[in-house]
Amino acid sequence: MSRIPRLRIETLRLFSVLLLLLFAANTPAVAQTHSAGLMNFSAAGDVFACSNRDSGTVSIVSWPELKLLREIPVGHKPEGVAWLGKSRRLACCVYGDDEIVILNADTGAVESRISVFDEPYGVVSNADGTRLYATLEYPGQVVVLNPKSGEQLQQWNVGQMLRGICISGDGTRILVTEYLTAMVREISTADGSVKRTWKAASTDNLARQIVMAPGQQRAYVTHIRSRVTAAHGNGSIFPYASVIRLGGPEQGTRLRVPLDTIRGTRVTANPWDCDVAPDGRSLAVAFAGTNDLYVLKIVGDDYVELDFQSSVRCGSNPRAVRFSPDGESFLVYNALDFNVVAYDLRSGQITGTVNVTECPLDDDVLLGKQLFYTALQPMTSRAWISCSSCHPDGDADGRTWQQPEGLRSTQPLAGLAWTHPLHWSADRDEVQDFEHTIRGALMGGRGLLGGRLPDALDETITGRSKALDALAAYTNSHQVPISPHAKNGLTEAALRGRKLFMSAETGCANCHSGPFYSDSQPTAITEFAMHNVGTGNDDDTELMSPAYDTPTLLGLYRSAPYLHHGKAATLHDVLTTMNPADRHGSTSQLNTQQVNDLVEFLKSLPWEDPEKAAESAGLLRVSGRSE
Ligand code: HEC
Ligand code: HEC
Repeated sequence: MSRIPRLRIETLRLFSVLLLLLFAANTPAVAQTHSAGLMNFSAAGDVFACSNRDSGTVSIVSWPELKLLREIPVGHKPEGVAWLGKSRRLACCVYGDDEIVILNADTGAVESRISVFDEPYGVVSNADGTRLYATLEYPGQVVVLNPKSGEQLQQWNVGQMLRGICISGDGTRILVTEYLTAMVREISTADGSVKRTWKAASTDNLARQIVMAPGQQRAYVTHIRSRVTAAHGNGSIFPYASVIRLGGPEQGTRLRVPLDTIRGTRVTANPWDCDVAPDGRSLAVAFAGTNDLYVLKIVGDDYVELDFQSSVRCGSNPRAVRFSPDGESFLVYNALDFNVVAYDLRSGQITGTVNVTECPLDDDVLLGKQLFYTALQPMTSRAWISCSSCHPDGDADGRTWQQPEGLRSTQPLAGLAWTHPLHWSADRDEVQDFEHTIRGALMGGRGLLGGRLPDALDETITGRSKALDALAAYTNSHQVPISPHAKNGLTEAALRGRKLFMSAETGCANCHSGPFYSDSQPTAITEFAMHNVGTGNDDDTELMSPAYDTPTLLGLYRSAPYLHHGKAATLHDVLTTMNPADRHGSTSQLNTQQVNDLVEFLKSLPWEDPEKAAESAGLLRVSGRSE
């Protein structure tokens, strides 16, 4: 009898030791948070991965040796990368191909490609690498994926134009950012429900990434503020860090910290990414416009939150920053130098550089792109603003600016080479005319052209400045992606809509003609086709026209708000409330289903490559190569 309890105790002891071992194996010493970003360290910290948007590759680099181990082709415009738990495998969002690819960092193999609806931007993994959470920008969704089976398990509609994403250490919640409003939402990973929302100011814009501090009391988002009523360089665009309070007495609130006054009066532009040091004491912010980086002290009280600590100069267009796992260094990804540079945190000295990919761009497109992204001279004297502050990656900023000539919503630049003249009022006929913007009140730069600057529609200035021609080559290089609504061709509804669009009854194709759905074409360069479609009459600030240049309709599905004044929130509005007298095509006779069909068709544009069609139709395009 006496032996049984002893045996039991032994068994119990063994059992509890086993349990402890199991527990220790499954639970990291500190439950680490993870943030999406285009550069991230593996769990072991001996390698990091970065995605190269222009090259279409992911590079794997050893740390601290900074040796490029391999470069893996993944597809068009890769963005966020995330390691799968503690493994040597990682996921990459291939934004341009609508795929999330799973890579093996040791072999360089692409193990699988998971198709998603559209524009995957940021991705994070749970701690054991069994689930991936990714933001899809245009549809405004978070998708949950099983990386092993390649299955999409969930799809949550939790906002608009989502980009940034980070996950708590225990994997129970994620935070996401809206790109065009900087709004932050906390989402339960159990069921996709939105638990809390941190609203932003109406001027906040371009929030790409979000990081959660180790203690999980704070998250940080960098973004800009676009003051659309000020069309001059020292009042339009400002850099910010928003402190998202997850816990503590002020939880549920956010504090915006201006990054152009945090160090006296020194101005910075276009904060693109940030990272928190492993000890939670510093926040590094990379400025993709002024090509520098601030290390901010995390003060951690509810009033100050962040204070200036130190700064370093970076290379061209720094788009990502990560602290090393020991917290003693930070690494900066310079997108237009195609390298990663390591700095010692304490001294700010450079400790190493690695070229992560070859520059795939032609010399002129590279120079033009550098000019487009910089907020330094000769582009601007004021350092707050660059072309990319309003046209990030050639997309629109979703804003309508109060220009001296009237309300003007920012146009996407895709397809531009085929749809000259430029601007809603066709007051420019070549991108070189943006020398007026560079030298004007908005940017106040020295400019790229010596001497006198003729009026925009006077003699051509193409060919007079290598730099200005390069800016034009880059600006004209943006292509229109196929609409996600037409991946399998036109739907029945879209086909019906197309018939209406092409009909004499509506008359849409009279002006929205050709592969770009616009009669604004470089061939017609001396006689601009401008049309008064009844949209320019109720704006007191309008100085130029009630007649406008016909915009291309390609890519409409993602470019709200609509019309030159941005007053049409949806495509329905363009066809109904904004067209009461049938001056903009004839729409008042259409029944609800016909309007819906027409909208379905507009959302499906383009469903085939417009450049191919334009080339075979012999249409002209202005200089510059496709990106
Ligand atoms: C403050 C925000 C802002 C900045 C900075 C800015 N733009 Fe724009 N951009 C706009 C707006 C708004 C429009 C529409 C204006 C109009 O049509 O009159 C526009 C229109 C354009 C267009 C015409 C697109 C089309 O389809 O016709 C081009 C090209 C362009 N911008 C290039 C540039 C370049 C190059 C720079 C830098 C030198 C620049 N922009 C700086 C806001 C900005
Ligand atoms: C007489 C020429 C003309 C006709 C006909 C015409 N459009 Fe337009 N369309 C324009 C012009 C000019 C604008 C720009 C107006 C503005 O911004 O105020 C425009 C703007 C638009 C826009 C907004 C694009 C954007 O990027 O904001 C849509 C959508 C559109 N048209 C669809 C249609 C449809 C559908 C029809 C047929 C029912 C049609 N249009 C008929 C000339 C025309």
